[in-house]
Amino acid sequence: MIRGAITIANQLWWKNAICYQIYPKSFYDSNSDGIGDLKGIITKLDYLKDLGISIIWINPVYKSPMVDNGYDISDYETIHDQYGTMTDLDIFIKEAKKRDIYIIMDMVINHTSDEHPWFVESRAHKDSLKRDWYIWRDPKDDGAPPNNWRSVFGGSAWEYDAETYQYYLHVFSKKQPDLNWENPEVRKAIYKMINFWLNKGIGGFRFDAITFIKKRSDFSDLPTTSPDGLVPIAKASLNQPGILQLLHELKEQTFGNYDVFTVAEAPGVASHERSKFIGEQGVFDVLFEFNHVNIYLREEGKWYEPMPWTLVDFKKAIANSQKIDNMDGWCALFLENHDLPRSVSTFIKNVGPNSAKVLATMYLLLRGTPFIYQGQELGMTNIDFSSITNYDDIATLDQYHLALADGYTPKVALERIGKFSRDNARTPMQWNAGKYAGFSDHEPWLEVNPNYVEINVAQQVADLKSVYHYYRKLIEIRNTNDVILHGDFELLLPDDQTVFAYRRTFNEKTVLVMTNFSEFRRKFHLPVEIKYSKAQLLISNLEFSDDDCIQYLELQPFEARVYELR
Ligand code: NOJ
Ligand code: CA
Repeated sequence: MIRGAITIANQLWWKNAICYQIYPKSFYDSNSDGIGDLKGIITKLDYLKDLGISIIWINPVYKSPMVDNGYDISDYETIHDQYGTMTDLDIFIKEAKKRDIYIIMDMVINHTSDEHPWFVESRAHKDSLKRDWYIWRDPKDDGAPPNNWRSVFGGSAWEYDAETYQYYLHVFSKKQPDLNWENPEVRKAIYKMINFWLNKGIGGFRFDAITFIKKRSDFSDLPTTSPDGLVPIAKASLNQPGILQLLHELKEQTFGNYDVFTVAEAPGVASHERSKFIGEQGVFDVLFEFNHVNIYLREEGKWYEPMPWTLVDFKKAIANSQKIDNMDGWCALFLENHDLPRSVSTFIKNVGPNSAKVLATMYLLLRGTPFIYQGQELGMTNIDFSSITNYDDIATLDQYHLALADGYTPKVALERIGKFSRDNARTPMQWNAGKYAGFSDHEPWLEVNPNYVEINVAQQVADLKSVYHYYRKLIEIRNTNDVILHGDFELLLPDDQTVFAYRRTFNEKTVLVMTNFSEFRRKFHLPVEIKYSKAQLLISNLEFSDDDCIQYLELQPFEARVYELR
């Protein structure tokens, strides 16, 4: 077995790891063009090492027309000019490894760009040798698309090609045609490309949209009551029967032969199916599941009509994702990524350093491998753009137009979609209080959040009471406490509307995590065996006189406290 990375004393190395997600376009610009790049990331590796992380997931840096910021790949083996060169990437991998940090690449194999040579050849004519590498169908008799599936980024999932009189399928934008996974030649080409990356000594992959690769086999219209007559493509292309066979082959032919970490973006996998997807007998190491972060989304995915939710719903979703049935299964933990709004703006009222620490305490001591999205460690927040023209993200623009079509005024549409826009997470990383937040000395591709003056790395590194230092401390606890690493999870006070508390237990030891998500003082009761335990405070976000007994339980507004009990 080729070792892509280290194995820590009988433990799978990635179970002890903390992963940091870098959105390269927005991390750090080294050559003053307003766009983040690989050289920029390399100069910040020491910052990441000091934070205590050991894996970096980097969003796509491959050659791309950039309609979906790199999720539309036109060459898997070339680096996009704006980000640098393959040599820069090799240096990045090497420099990270020197610091015991492993790089996981984003692997986008559900679709390519329409500018990928495979698609260009496929589209050229009906008899092209690569015609069947993508999914082509004839129009209906009246010329309409082959069926009523709606693409994730809006409109029909089919795009007509006037040269060859057929439609091709795209789950995402029309610039992202879906590969035909039923074709063995396609699979072979994908495996070859993945092995090219594995041989570079990377630490693994995050598999993009991987539960979309198998399509419903009948390609039929599906019932709908939607005014546009369309049905979200998730119904026809998400976790379809037969997908596991394809995924097992992918594993056998590629990463299954390497000691690497794999995380699959896995919408559509129900909790009872998890064990088929992860662990030794499954396919991947961990899954990104979305119930806890999509708590406000209705099934149709309209951002502008969010559902009301409570802390109890959030707690239940997290507790459910903590339940892994098979012995070798493991969780991927996350609150943020490049597709989501900022967590402090979403899950907490009264955005501020204390509430950011409450969220961090609840989050970082859960069971699994945590992912920290760039800037999360500073408590970076959502941005308030005053015009739709400030937004760059393809999904945001689609949602805005959907909201207008549904009868919302431009003002209300902007307000609503602003809360959930993917650009909230994509504003430049806030390095210091200087111009453009120290991200670049050129105007950045996306506006900097004006709160960079208060929320930035330089200020927080200098302030031992900052959110950044609190993250460091939590990471240190996580990295050195075997109860946090291995312990079971049990949700306490499941029906409490403002306190999020749980315990972790391992080898007769318990860690008790208590967080108050409200602006009110809260008294509450915990099971009696906890109440009378000897307790040692591990961390707290408020000044607090340590007490070795937790008989009287009370949390101040937005207080977090963690004890080890004996
Ligand atoms: C999921 C990625 O996280 C998202 O950013 C992208 O738009 C879609 N997959 C399509 O690749
Ligand atoms: Ca640059």
